[in-house]
Amino acid sequence: MRQVKPDVFEVGAIDWDRRIFDEIIPLPDGTSYNSYLIKGSEKIALLDTVDPPKKDILFENLAQAGVKKIDYVISHHAEQDHSGSLPDVLQAFPEAKLVTNAKCKGMLVDLLHIDENRFMVIEDGQEISLGNKTLKFILTPWVHWPETMCTYLAQDKILFTCDFFGSHLATSDLFARDMSKVLECNKRYYAEIMMPFRTIIAKNIEKLKDLDIEIIAPSHGPLYDEPRTIINAYKKWIDEKDVANKVIVAYVSMHGSTRKMVDRLVNSLMERGIGVQQFNLVNADVGKIAIEMVDAAGIVLASPTFLTALHPAAAYAAFLVNALRPKTKYLAFMGSFGWAGKILDQLQQMLAATKAELLEPLVIKGLPRDDDYTKIDQLADRIAEKHKDFVKL
Ligand code: FEO
Repeated sequence: MRQVKPDVFEVGAIDWDRRIFDEIIPLPDGTSYNSYLIKGSEKIALLDTVDPPKKDILFENLAQAGVKKIDYVISHHAEQDHSGSLPDVLQAFPEAKLVTNAKCKGMLVDLLHIDENRFMVIEDGQEISLGNKTLKFILTPWVHWPETMCTYLAQDKILFTCDFFGSHLATSDLFARDMSKVLECNKRYYAEIMMPFRTIIAKNIEKLKDLDIEIIAPSHGPLYDEPRTIINAYKKWIDEKDVANKVIVAYVSMHGSTRKMVDRLVNSLMERGIGVQQFNLVNADVGKIAIEMVDAAGIVLASPTFLTALHPAAAYAAFLVNALRPKTKYLAFMGSFGWAGKILDQLQQMLAATKAELLEPLVIKGLPRDDDYTKIDQLADRIAEKHKDFVKL
């Protein structure tokens, strides 16, 4: 249990050892499931719970805080890393009302089979009083599920945001102190989880702008007592015009032909003053690619033909680009084939949701020859032209 302010405590759990989330997202720095206890002069509220394997820590912290009764349990988000221990909490505190919005209620009933009689459904902007402290609920949908919301504690100027502004970072710091590390983890979290919803995130940030916020208290990672830092970082990441002079070159090569194409393109781009982040898709950290997608001006995918199609590692990368919908301005493809393939048709289908321009693909037969290298240099020229259009050089 850690005190945030008088009568406001963090009672969740740090998960130092967790290394994967949703069975896909790498967690190189662990994570935490922050849960908050607010003791008002008349009522007590618990804000979110923890991932079920960590529920014993939550109950130990509640016991340490001397909690005998909880009046309100606030659920900001139905995903189980925050909601999964709700059934145990509601059983332990039978008088507690589960406070959330209508959409979240439906999801909690479906996901956790919580008794409908336990709920108190609130509307956007509604408040409940704990006596000397007041909780105001602000619906902030799609950060990153449709039911997500925040709670503002006016007397202490704390905004509880659940996943919004969170980071997968296990740290003993209650408040963010190692800012370069925290922002790296936050950018990773934004890239993997929030980026596809950046248009609505911009609206949610706008909705919060009139609140007097001293502390942002997310449900993953450290809290922010200088909230402008993280809000401004989000604003930069979601700004469609803010792209860096940088290209992601993500490739897989089976017998070296695609690798030679990549080597030539990377050198050619560097000669033109363009930054490159190169990833071998066979062993790359998906999270690092996602981080680069936040502000890279372009992405080049390179793949050999594998059973007439994209190599599966390249298909996975194309799937991620399509799903995460980065603000990348252009996409390019390079590849090689031995006898035949439908690689370009497949690629276009897989990238159907992206708005980025697809540059003329470059597909060659076998090992690159001199005229192929010339074509690769021409692709670097086209990319350099795009950067003149989109990047503040
Ligand atoms: Fe941390 Fe979307 O749950």
